[in-house]
Amino acid sequence: VRTIEWLGDAVRLIDQTRLPLELHHKETRDYRDIAESIRRLEVRGAPAIGVAAAMGIALAAREHAALGMKEFRAGVEYAAEFLNSTRPTAVNLGWAVARMLVVLRDESLADTEAAIDALTREAVEIFEEDRELSRRIGEHGAALIEDGDGVLTHCNAGGLATAELGTALAVIFTAAEQGKRIRVFADETRPLLQGARLTTWELMQRGIDVTLLCDSAAASAMRAGWVTKVVVGADRIAGNGDVANKIGTFPVAMAAREFGIPFYVAAPFSTLDASLSSGAEIPIEERDALEVTDIQGVRVAPEGVKVYNPAFDVTPAALVSAIVTDAGVFRAPYEETLFRS
Ligand code: MRU
Repeated sequence: VRTIEWLGDAVRLIDQTRLPLELHHKETRDYRDIAESIRRLEVRGAPAIGVAAAMGIALAAREHAALGMKEFRAGVEYAAEFLNSTRPTAVNLGWAVARMLVVLRDESLADTEAAIDALTREAVEIFEEDRELSRRIGEHGAALIEDGDGVLTHCNAGGLATAELGTALAVIFTAAEQGKRIRVFADETRPLLQGARLTTWELMQRGIDVTLLCDSAAASAMRAGWVTKVVVGADRIAGNGDVANKIGTFPVAMAAREFGIPFYVAAPFSTLDASLSSGAEIPIEERDALEVTDIQGVRVAPEGVKVYNPAFDVTPAALVSAIVTDAGVFRAPYEETLFRS
């Protein structure tokens, strides 16, 4: 299963809104479709949207091939900003766009053909790098997992959220490959059910024991003694180690603290944002009320009800036992360990 692929002059991605009922691929040559797919969460997960935006910029470059260099750069810059504005919280998006803009602004590019080649190479490089980062996160994180562990995860930080393998799920997949017997508890992750739809699907495909539970059942599963570790992904990690991740992560971290269960965050270096001194500065995306009032297109709440629908929350660094990155496992104080590495 390939979450996203560069086809030479087009992008192919899995429409994740249809999983697990249907494995449907979308193919496009238009960067506007990529932006729409990111907005609609057809492609989602912090590293995957960075890869998608980079590929979107490579598509935009093709669209402007016939222009002079000045107009070409202006057109591609516009597309880059358009893609960058799709979702505010995952810093991987802005990180990937910034990398593409460095290439675009390179004054040594002779013509649009050379620029298109360079931008395409950079997008493919971001994709390939992400696959490698996931593998390394898996290896470092697996060392934290013991035979017999019950691991709770929230949202989907698997292969579907990255170019391959994932972050939190890479840790689980790698530990399982090492022969460790693991039971996974997957929070359903309201409102869009990335846990119920995507995480369970990925784990079951790999034959890993998984139990789906409502978000509100996580603390009870911990008190029952079934959960011995929590591993989640991240959308942005501020300079002090505060972690933004899918809404509902923060209460999981609080419950884990109550029961003395280690709470681990797995993310590549592209998720770190040293420019922010704390999680209070992380922009939190608020999404459409329909995502809460309706479930899979069926209305469940009264018409006209007021809705609060933040897509992410911030877990304070004090609740994070360790952050697993492609460079290793880091513990507090994160300013000095993770951000000085
Ligand atoms: O809204 P989503 O589905 O894009 O949210 C995804 C998450 O919160 C993931 O946990 C995070 O991006 C890490 S993915 C490796």
